[in-house]
Amino acid sequence: MKINQHETDRANLNKGGLQMRKVRVFSFVMFVLLLTCAMAGFSFAHDIELNQLSEEQFRLLLWGGLLYDNWLKELGVKIEDTHPSYPSEGKKKGKDTWRCKECHGWDYKGKDGDYSKGSHYTGIKGIRDFAHKSPEEIMAILKNDIHAFGKKMPEEAYKAISLFVAYGQIDMDEYIERSTKKVKGDLSYGARIYVSTCAKCHGTDGKRINFKTTEKPEYLGTLCNKNPWEALHKIRFGQPSEEMISLLFLDTREQIDVLSYCQTLPIK
Ligand code: HEC
Ligand code: HEC
Repeated sequence: MKINQHETDRANLNKGGLQMRKVRVFSFVMFVLLLTCAMAGFSFAHDIELNQLSEEQFRLLLWGGLLYDNWLKELGVKIEDTHPSYPSEGKKKGKDTWRCKECHGWDYKGKDGDYSKGSHYTGIKGIRDFAHKSPEEIMAILKNDIHAFGKKMPEEAYKAISLFVAYGQIDMDEYIERSTKKVKGDLSYGARIYVSTCAKCHGTDGKRINFKTTEKPEYLGTLCNKNPWEALHKIRFGQPSEEMISLLFLDTREQIDVLSYCQTLPIK
């Protein structure tokens, strides 16, 4: 077949034009992407930070999240006494007063967060100031006299919790509206994650597992609306010494999508 030189040139020119347009579209997409990242700010930086951890560090950090929730249950440690640093005006007693979350909150903000009032109030500050700090510095705090954990906690656990405090905690106020407790996520994407992971155990309506009693049942929908901070921590790290999975491998935004969907599940 004989190809006309003029035609070929024109075709090449068109291709060039197309290339230019592609470059422009690409630049625009990159610009929007960067802008979105800039707006997402810290949370984006947070996901990058997690993704940069080694496999071993990630495994430890994940465990650290469970230990923050309930290290006694996770490690099978039995303590009857109330923690020596638990304030006398606090309403809790015994083993629960040793849990990190009891003094520092599910939202990691202690007296400045959800535990600023109510039965969990202690007046103790949160752990937010130690996000992005060195795990060594954090470990020294965990080993101080205030905390009095001593040999009750193995070295590996100290390491894991320090990694969690440094790189695992997030600023939940970026996602959960404090007064309404509502989260704004992508519901249809959250639903996809829910039906493909959570539903197997919690049921499509979140009612297969009852966390409390038959008289006063608490289901997934109940908890996600009542205490979204606790639910988010559990969605990210799982449930201590239970078979529940962790969604820490997803970006924070996607974890929020699931939480958002869980808030639409029946509460009773
Ligand atoms: C009985 C209550 C209690 C428990 C349980 C507890 N802490 Fe603390 N924690 C404190 C007190 C009190 C301070 C000192 C706060 C201050 O300086 O005002 C503190 C300080 C901290 C700090 C430094 C905060 C800052 O900005 O100075 C970190 C980090 C921390 N705790 C992490 C943890 C972790 C992780 C756990 C669980 C392994 C834990 N704590 C368990 C009471 C507790
Ligand atoms: C392999 C089974 C399994 C899967 C999968 C699973 N969970 Fe769970 N989940 C559990 C078990 C078991 C508990 C503990 C129930 C208890 O303590 O009474 C639990 C507890 C929870 C809790 C804490 C309830 C409380 O009050 O302490 C939340 C929140 C939760 N799951 C959310 C989810 C979400 C969201 C997903 C999907 C991302 C999910 N779970 C996937 C088994 C599972």
